[in-house]
Amino acid sequence: MHSLVAGQSDLRKTIEHAQRADRLDGTFSVTVSAAHVPYGTSSVIEQEVASAISARYEWSYMELQRAPIDIRVFIDGTWALIGVRIFDEPLSRRAYRVVNLRGALRPTVAAALVRIATSAGGRPRVWDPFCGSATILCEAAEQGYEVWGTDIDPEAVEAARENLAAVNREYWNRIECADSTSPKTWKKHQSATAVVTNLPWGKQVAIKSKQALYDSVGAGAAEFVRRGGASVLLTTEPKLIEQRLKRDGAVQIEERRIGLLGQTPTILVLQPAK
Ligand SMILES: C[S@@+](CC[C@H](N)C(=O)[O-])C[C@H]1O[C@@H](n2cnc3c(N)ncnc32)[C@H](O)[C@@H]1O
Repeated sequence: MHSLVAGQSDLRKTIEHAQRADRLDGTFSVTVSAAHVPYGTSSVIEQEVASAISARYEWSYMELQRAPIDIRVFIDGTWALIGVRIFDEPLSRRAYRVVNLRGALRPTVAAALVRIATSAGGRPRVWDPFCGSATILCEAAEQGYEVWGTDIDPEAVEAARENLAAVNREYWNRIECADSTSPKTWKKHQSATAVVTNLPWGKQVAIKSKQALYDSVGAGAAEFVRRGGASVLLTTEPKLIEQRLKRDGAVQIEERRIGLLGQTPTILVLQPAK
Protein backbone atom coordinates (compact mmCIF):
# COMPACT_ATOMS: atom_id res chain seq x y z
CA MET A 1 0.00 0.00 0.00
CA HIS A 2 2.88 2.31 0.89
CA SER A 3 4.54 1.81 -2.50
CA LEU A 4 1.21 2.15 -4.33
CA VAL A 5 0.59 5.53 -2.76
CA ALA A 6 4.19 6.69 -3.06
CA GLY A 7 4.74 5.43 -6.59
CA GLN A 8 1.42 5.75 -8.35
CA SER A 9 -0.54 8.63 -6.94
CA ASP A 10 0.02 12.17 -8.07
CA LEU A 11 -1.81 14.73 -6.00
CA ARG A 12 -0.52 17.81 -7.81
CA LYS A 13 -3.85 18.57 -9.49
CA THR A 14 -5.67 18.07 -6.20
CA ILE A 15 -3.37 20.50 -4.48
CA GLU A 16 -4.07 23.07 -7.20
CA HIS A 17 -7.84 22.60 -6.71
CA ALA A 18 -7.49 22.86 -2.97
CA GLN A 19 -5.45 26.04 -3.26
CA ARG A 20 -8.09 27.59 -5.49
CA ALA A 21 -10.79 26.61 -2.99
CA ASP A 22 -8.63 28.05 -0.20
CA ARG A 23 -8.72 24.75 1.68
CA LEU A 24 -5.10 23.82 2.02
CA ASP A 25 -4.00 24.25 5.62
CA GLY A 26 -1.16 21.74 5.60
CA THR A 27 -3.15 18.94 7.20
CA PHE A 28 -4.71 15.79 5.82
CA SER A 29 -6.66 12.78 7.07
CA VAL A 30 -7.21 9.28 5.68
CA THR A 31 -10.47 7.32 5.48
CA VAL A 32 -10.20 3.64 4.59
CA SER A 33 -12.96 1.31 3.49
CA ALA A 34 -11.56 -2.21 3.01
CA ALA A 35 -13.12 -5.58 2.25
CA HIS A 36 -11.56 -8.99 1.62
CA VAL A 37 -8.02 -7.81 2.43
CA PRO A 38 -5.48 -10.31 3.75
CA TYR A 39 -2.86 -7.71 4.74
CA GLY A 40 -4.20 -5.91 7.78
CA THR A 41 -7.02 -3.96 9.29
CA SER A 42 -8.28 -0.59 8.06
CA SER A 43 -6.23 1.22 10.71
CA VAL A 44 -3.00 -0.49 9.58
CA ILE A 45 -3.74 0.57 5.99
CA GLU A 46 -4.59 4.09 7.19
CA GLN A 47 -1.19 4.43 8.89
CA GLU A 48 0.66 3.15 5.80
CA VAL A 49 -1.11 5.58 3.50
CA ALA A 50 -0.57 8.43 5.97
CA SER A 51 3.15 7.82 6.23
CA ALA A 52 3.55 7.55 2.43
CA ILE A 53 1.75 10.84 1.91
CA SER A 54 3.54 12.67 4.73
CA ALA A 55 6.89 11.58 3.29
CA ARG A 56 6.02 12.79 -0.18
CA TYR A 57 4.09 16.02 0.47
CA GLU A 58 5.22 17.14 3.91
CA TRP A 59 1.68 17.64 5.13
CA SER A 60 0.80 16.75 8.70
CA TYR A 61 -1.51 13.86 9.33
CA MET A 62 -4.59 14.34 11.53
CA GLU A 63 -5.58 11.08 13.12
CA LEU A 64 -9.27 10.30 13.77
CA GLN A 65 -10.45 13.57 12.30
CA ARG A 66 -11.51 14.87 8.95
CA ALA A 67 -8.97 17.38 7.69
CA PRO A 68 -9.63 19.76 4.78
CA ILE A 69 -7.98 17.17 2.55
CA ASP A 70 -9.32 13.69 3.23
CA ILE A 71 -7.61 10.86 1.34
CA ARG A 72 -10.22 8.16 0.61
CA VAL A 73 -9.03 4.61 0.11
CA PHE A 74 -11.43 1.89 -1.09
CA ILE A 75 -10.10 -1.64 -1.32
CA ASP A 76 -11.87 -4.81 -2.38
CA GLY A 77 -9.50 -7.79 -2.49
CA THR A 78 -6.72 -7.00 -4.94
CA TRP A 79 -8.46 -3.92 -6.27
CA ALA A 80 -7.82 -0.44 -4.83
CA LEU A 81 -9.08 3.03 -5.59
CA ILE A 82 -7.54 6.11 -4.04
CA GLY A 83 -9.38 9.41 -4.18
CA VAL A 84 -9.35 12.73 -2.40
CA ARG A 85 -12.23 14.56 -0.86
CA ILE A 86 -11.54 18.26 -1.04
CA PHE A 87 -15.00 19.77 -0.52
CA ASP A 88 -17.42 19.57 2.41
CA GLU A 89 -20.41 18.90 0.17
CA PRO A 90 -20.59 15.14 -0.58
CA LEU A 91 -20.57 14.26 -4.27
CA SER A 92 -23.79 12.28 -3.86
CA ARG A 93 -25.92 15.18 -2.55
CA ARG A 94 -28.47 16.24 -5.14
CA ALA A 95 -30.96 19.10 -5.10
CA TYR A 96 -33.53 16.97 -6.98
CA ARG A 97 -33.97 14.52 -4.07
CA VAL A 98 -37.26 16.10 -3.01
CA VAL A 99 -38.77 12.75 -2.00
CA ASN A 100 -36.46 10.13 -0.55
CA LEU A 101 -37.68 6.61 -1.26
CA ARG A 102 -36.22 3.55 0.45
CA GLY A 103 -34.04 1.62 -1.98
CA ALA A 104 -33.16 4.68 -4.06
CA LEU A 105 -30.01 4.27 -6.09
CA ARG A 106 -26.86 6.18 -5.25
CA PRO A 107 -26.83 9.23 -7.59
CA THR A 108 -23.17 8.78 -8.57
CA VAL A 109 -23.90 5.19 -9.65
CA ALA A 110 -27.01 6.34 -11.55
CA ALA A 111 -24.92 8.99 -13.34
CA ALA A 112 -22.35 6.34 -14.32
CA LEU A 113 -25.06 4.01 -15.70
CA VAL A 114 -26.41 6.85 -17.85
CA ARG A 115 -22.93 7.66 -19.14
CA ILE A 116 -22.28 4.05 -20.12
CA ALA A 117 -25.61 3.85 -21.98
CA THR A 118 -25.19 7.13 -23.82
CA SER A 119 -21.49 6.89 -24.68
CA ALA A 120 -22.33 6.27 -28.36
CA GLY A 121 -23.43 9.93 -28.60
CA GLY A 122 -26.39 11.18 -30.61
CA ARG A 123 -29.42 12.59 -28.82
CA PRO A 124 -30.24 9.88 -26.27
CA ARG A 125 -33.83 9.23 -25.22
CA VAL A 126 -33.66 7.35 -21.95
CA TRP A 127 -36.36 5.07 -20.53
CA ASP A 128 -36.19 3.53 -17.03
CA PRO A 129 -38.83 0.74 -16.83
CA PHE A 130 -38.35 0.27 -13.02
CA CYS A 131 -37.75 3.91 -12.18
CA GLY A 132 -38.54 3.99 -8.42
CA SER A 133 -37.89 7.56 -7.29
CA ALA A 134 -36.29 8.45 -10.66
CA THR A 135 -32.63 8.78 -9.66
CA ILE A 136 -31.46 7.49 -13.05
CA LEU A 137 -33.90 9.76 -14.90
CA CYS A 138 -32.90 12.82 -12.89
CA GLU A 139 -29.23 12.16 -13.67
CA ALA A 140 -30.04 11.64 -17.37
CA ALA A 141 -32.15 14.82 -17.45
CA GLU A 142 -29.31 16.73 -15.76
CA GLN A 143 -26.98 15.45 -18.49
CA GLY A 144 -29.42 17.01 -20.99
CA TYR A 145 -31.30 13.93 -22.21
CA GLU A 146 -34.99 13.31 -22.86
CA VAL A 147 -36.37 10.87 -20.28
CA TRP A 148 -39.37 8.62 -19.55
CA GLY A 149 -40.06 6.38 -16.57
CA THR A 150 -42.38 3.57 -15.52
CA ASP A 151 -43.09 2.01 -12.14
CA ILE A 152 -45.81 -0.33 -10.91
CA ASP A 153 -45.97 1.25 -7.46
CA PRO A 154 -48.11 4.45 -7.27
CA GLU A 155 -46.02 5.75 -4.34
CA ALA A 156 -42.84 5.44 -6.45
CA VAL A 157 -44.57 7.17 -9.37
CA GLU A 158 -45.50 10.08 -7.11
CA ALA A 159 -41.92 10.33 -5.78
CA ALA A 160 -40.46 10.08 -9.29
CA ARG A 161 -42.67 12.91 -10.54
CA GLU A 162 -41.70 15.20 -7.68
CA ASN A 163 -37.98 14.50 -8.10
CA LEU A 164 -37.94 14.76 -11.88
CA ALA A 165 -39.93 18.00 -11.80
CA ALA A 166 -37.14 19.46 -9.65
CA VAL A 167 -34.80 19.02 -12.63
CA ASN A 168 -37.30 19.98 -15.34
CA ARG A 169 -40.90 20.98 -14.55
CA GLU A 170 -42.04 19.86 -17.99
CA TYR A 171 -41.11 16.25 -17.23
CA TRP A 172 -43.86 15.74 -14.60
CA ASN A 173 -46.01 13.68 -16.97
CA ARG A 174 -43.11 11.60 -18.27
CA ILE A 175 -43.68 9.07 -15.46
CA GLU A 176 -46.42 6.46 -15.83
CA CYS A 177 -47.76 3.81 -13.50
CA ALA A 178 -47.58 0.52 -15.42
CA ASP A 179 -46.26 -3.02 -15.36
CA SER A 180 -42.90 -3.28 -17.14
CA THR A 181 -43.12 -7.05 -17.42
CA SER A 182 -45.82 -6.48 -20.03
CA PRO A 183 -44.72 -6.43 -23.71
CA LYS A 184 -47.22 -3.58 -24.19
CA THR A 185 -45.16 -1.31 -21.91
CA TRP A 186 -41.97 -2.07 -23.87
CA LYS A 187 -43.76 -1.45 -27.16
CA LYS A 188 -44.97 1.92 -25.96
CA HIS A 189 -41.36 2.97 -25.31
CA GLN A 190 -39.77 1.64 -28.45
CA SER A 191 -38.76 5.11 -29.60
CA ALA A 192 -36.31 5.35 -26.67
CA THR A 193 -32.63 4.86 -27.59
CA ALA A 194 -31.41 3.69 -24.18
CA VAL A 195 -33.00 1.55 -21.48
CA VAL A 196 -31.23 2.24 -18.19
CA THR A 197 -32.49 0.71 -14.97
CA ASN A 198 -31.74 -1.05 -11.74
CA LEU A 199 -33.90 -4.12 -11.53
CA PRO A 200 -36.07 -4.80 -8.50
CA TRP A 201 -34.65 -7.22 -5.98
CA GLY A 202 -38.01 -7.89 -4.38
CA LYS A 203 -37.58 -5.77 -1.24
CA GLN A 204 -39.82 -2.75 -1.83
CA VAL A 205 -42.55 -4.42 -3.89
CA ALA A 206 -43.12 -8.15 -3.61
CA ILE A 207 -42.41 -9.92 -6.88
CA LYS A 208 -44.47 -13.01 -7.65
CA SER A 209 -41.72 -14.72 -9.60
CA LYS A 210 -38.23 -13.32 -10.04
CA GLN A 211 -37.57 -15.67 -12.93
CA ALA A 212 -40.74 -14.53 -14.72
CA LEU A 213 -39.82 -10.86 -14.20
CA TYR A 214 -36.26 -11.38 -15.47
CA ASP A 215 -37.52 -13.43 -18.43
CA SER A 216 -39.83 -10.67 -19.57
CA VAL A 217 -37.17 -7.98 -19.06
CA GLY A 218 -34.69 -10.18 -20.98
CA ALA A 219 -37.16 -10.55 -23.85
CA GLY A 220 -37.98 -6.82 -23.90
CA ALA A 221 -34.31 -5.78 -23.70
CA ALA A 222 -33.21 -8.25 -26.40
CA GLU A 223 -35.84 -6.92 -28.80
CA PHE A 224 -34.95 -3.33 -27.88
CA VAL A 225 -31.23 -3.91 -28.52
CA ARG A 226 -31.94 -5.76 -31.80
CA ARG A 227 -33.64 -2.58 -32.99
CA GLY A 228 -30.39 -0.68 -32.37
CA GLY A 229 -30.87 0.61 -28.80
CA ALA A 230 -28.42 0.28 -25.91
CA SER A 231 -29.40 -1.18 -22.57
CA VAL A 232 -27.67 -0.92 -19.21
CA LEU A 233 -29.10 -2.99 -16.35
CA LEU A 234 -27.91 -3.02 -12.76
CA THR A 235 -28.80 -6.30 -11.09
CA THR A 236 -27.87 -8.63 -8.25
CA GLU A 237 -29.04 -11.56 -10.38
CA PRO A 238 -27.13 -11.34 -13.69
CA LYS A 239 -27.42 -15.08 -14.32
CA LEU A 240 -31.23 -14.98 -14.32
CA ILE A 241 -31.35 -12.44 -17.12
CA GLU A 242 -28.32 -13.72 -19.04
CA GLN A 243 -29.99 -17.11 -19.51
CA ARG A 244 -32.74 -15.41 -21.46
CA LEU A 245 -30.41 -13.06 -23.36
CA LYS A 246 -27.96 -15.78 -24.40
CA ARG A 247 -30.74 -17.60 -26.21
CA ASP A 248 -30.71 -14.55 -28.39
CA GLY A 249 -27.45 -14.44 -30.38
CA ALA A 250 -28.16 -10.89 -31.56
CA VAL A 251 -27.17 -9.38 -28.21
CA GLN A 252 -23.63 -8.77 -27.01
CA ILE A 253 -23.33 -8.79 -23.19
CA GLU A 254 -20.60 -7.11 -21.17
CA GLU A 255 -20.49 -7.57 -17.38
CA ARG A 256 -19.05 -5.15 -14.82
CA ARG A 257 -19.27 -6.04 -11.14
CA ILE A 258 -19.31 -3.16 -8.68
CA GLY A 259 -19.33 -2.75 -4.90
CA LEU A 260 -22.42 -0.96 -3.58
CA LEU A 261 -23.63 -0.72 0.02
CA GLY A 262 -22.07 -4.04 1.02
CA GLN A 263 -23.40 -5.84 -2.06
CA THR A 264 -21.70 -6.61 -5.36
CA PRO A 265 -24.30 -6.09 -8.08
CA THR A 266 -23.43 -6.38 -11.74
CA ILE A 267 -23.83 -3.82 -14.51
CA LEU A 268 -24.93 -5.63 -17.66
CA VAL A 269 -24.22 -3.63 -20.80
CA LEU A 270 -26.23 -4.92 -23.77
CA GLN A 271 -25.47 -3.91 -27.32
CA PRO A 272 -26.29 -5.27 -30.76
CA ALA A 273 -23.89 -8.15 -31.62
CA LYS A 274 -21.18 -7.10 -34.11
C1 LIG B 1 -34.64 -1.18 -7.22
S1 LIG B 1 -36.08 -0.19 -7.33
C2 LIG B 1 -35.58 1.16 -8.35
C3 LIG B 1 -34.96 2.27 -7.55
C4 LIG B 1 -34.70 3.51 -8.37
N1 LIG B 1 -33.59 3.34 -9.28
C5 LIG B 1 -34.45 4.71 -7.47
O1 LIG B 1 -33.36 5.30 -7.48
O2 LIG B 1 -35.35 5.06 -6.68
C6 LIG B 1 -37.08 -1.13 -8.40
C7 LIG B 1 -38.44 -0.57 -8.70
O3 LIG B 1 -39.12 -1.49 -9.56
C8 LIG B 1 -40.50 -1.37 -9.31
N2 LIG B 1 -41.18 -2.55 -9.87
C9 LIG B 1 -41.25 -3.83 -9.37
N3 LIG B 1 -41.95 -4.63 -10.21
C10 LIG B 1 -42.32 -3.85 -11.26
C11 LIG B 1 -43.03 -4.10 -12.47
N4 LIG B 1 -43.52 -5.31 -12.75
N5 LIG B 1 -43.22 -3.08 -13.35
C12 LIG B 1 -42.72 -1.83 -13.09
N6 LIG B 1 -42.04 -1.53 -11.95
C13 LIG B 1 -41.84 -2.53 -11.06
C14 LIG B 1 -40.59 -1.21 -7.81
O4 LIG B 1 -41.81 -0.58 -7.46
C15 LIG B 1 -39.35 -0.37 -7.50
O5 LIG B 1 -39.69 0.99 -7.40
